[in-house]
Amino acid sequence: MANKLTINIDIDVLDSAAELSEQEMQAMELAKQAAADAYAPYSNFLVGAALLMEDGTMFKGSNQENAAYPSGLCAERTALFALSANYPKAKIKLLAVTARRRNEQEFLPAMPCGACRQVMAEYEFKQKEPIPVLLQAEDGKFYRFNSVADLLPFQFNSDHL
Ligand code: THU
Repeated sequence: MANKLTINIDIDVLDSAAELSEQEMQAMELAKQAAADAYAPYSNFLVGAALLMEDGTMFKGSNQENAAYPSGLCAERTALFALSANYPKAKIKLLAVTARRRNEQEFLPAMPCGACRQVMAEYEFKQKEPIPVLLQAEDGKFYRFNSVADLLPFQFNSDHL
């Protein structure tokens, strides 16, 4: 009989913004602002990502679409690549993501796609310290992950090369 491997992932479910820390609140606010600047004329799905760095400064990104659809990029990777290009030594303390439909007020679950999880994993591996991830969830709730590893178990990284 096969052995079983069970993995435990702890996710904090925060019922409202009132349960966020001050820094998380600020990062989520910046993610909302970033979503307003998304270039998403094809999906009208506006995604915003905010990165909080060790020195307290923040950096944002939004999804950038293209008429040649696959040439576009998600908010999370836009933010991470731009941060790494501009501040290659920055240590990330938090990644916050939110989303909404254009012309609607309600913020929607922002579950990062697989490719974005892989890119997050790369930077977490690089900085050798977990990157906590705060995601907008349904009904004004938030999910707090302690680490990208919890969003992408059994991940491929340069250790496997
Ligand atoms: N998108 C993101 O920016 N982040 C995600 O986590 C999921 C999807 C974008 C890509 C595309 O511009 C739009 O949302 C619809 O898929």
